[in-house]
Amino acid sequence: MELWIKKIESASTLEELESLRVDTLGKKGVLTVEFAKMKDIPAEDKKSFAENLNKQKEQVTKALDSKKIELEAIALDKKLQNEKIDVTRFNNEITSGATHPVAETMNKIITYFQNLNFAVEEGPLVEDDFHNFQALNLPEYHPARDMADTFYNKDYTLLRTHTSPVQIRTMLSQKAPIRMIAPGTVFRRDFDITHTPMFHQIEGLVVDCADKISFANLKHVMVEFLQHIFGEVEVRFRPSYFPFTEPSAEVDISCVFCKGNGCRVCSQTGWLEVLGCGVVDQNVFDAVGYKDKSGYAFGLGVERFAMLIHSIGDLRSLFESDTRLLGQFK
Ligand code: PHE
Repeated sequence: MELWIKKIESASTLEELESLRVDTLGKKGVLTVEFAKMKDIPAEDKKSFAENLNKQKEQVTKALDSKKIELEAIALDKKLQNEKIDVTRFNNEITSGATHPVAETMNKIITYFQNLNFAVEEGPLVEDDFHNFQALNLPEYHPARDMADTFYNKDYTLLRTHTSPVQIRTMLSQKAPIRMIAPGTVFRRDFDITHTPMFHQIEGLVVDCADKISFANLKHVMVEFLQHIFGEVEVRFRPSYFPFTEPSAEVDISCVFCKGNGCRVCSQTGWLEVLGCGVVDQNVFDAVGYKDKSGYAFGLGVERFAMLIHSIGDLRSLFESDTRLLGQFK
């Protein structure tokens, strides 16, 4: 029996142990076979024979039981080890989103003007001819209508080509003084490296009594604003034309400036156009019934600002939802 007990003690798996149990205590096991011999044992020897066998059976049973407990504990350990959950790993796998560069730029500009006490106004994306063109001093057949390639709907409404109609809506519904910005989506029939059919603008309008608002006020606000956004750039006002402002200007920033994550994309001239602005044309005040007023207005493209701030070369990449680009803005 000692041999069997040794075998039991050195069993390394529960399966092995089970087959040792069958070999010893099973129907045809060595001990069962021994017990069967009882009937042939002379009566006087039966007692000691049985005692001896029972003792052996007890030893084998004990060895089997304790080995079973040991092997079960090992098996359980192994199972737990395999199913172990590393709770610290979950954090690594959760990825957070990021603010889209256009939204981020928009929010930055809105916040800047809110701090200067500008109200935020909104208007509809589907506009009519009056608000998008006529009231802005763009009568029918006016050549300047070609400046924007318009999406027209069947019912003679159109998708607004700029945020300037919000100037009209605000002046029609509020009395001067007005100090507002209008951020929003606009649409033009255009598609190339610097144009997408849908993009975003921020409009600005300041109106007060006649002679109170001048080009000098506009210039000051624009220079301060552009230097807040782009750092220590030079700002240049170039005479230009918009039907709704007179005089009008396009504003450029110098692009010699390199700071933070490198140099900004630069043009040959050393100047980059960033916005349009001017003194509100008298015809616009006439269209909304404003008398004896003066004001200035400006309009800028949010994508253009985002591209300059982040050195993005192709405008279209802002709308492709490519996580390789968006992931950089976390
Ligand atoms: N609406 C003009 C554009 O879309 C921008 C602008 C706004 C210019 C206000 C002057 C004043 O290009």
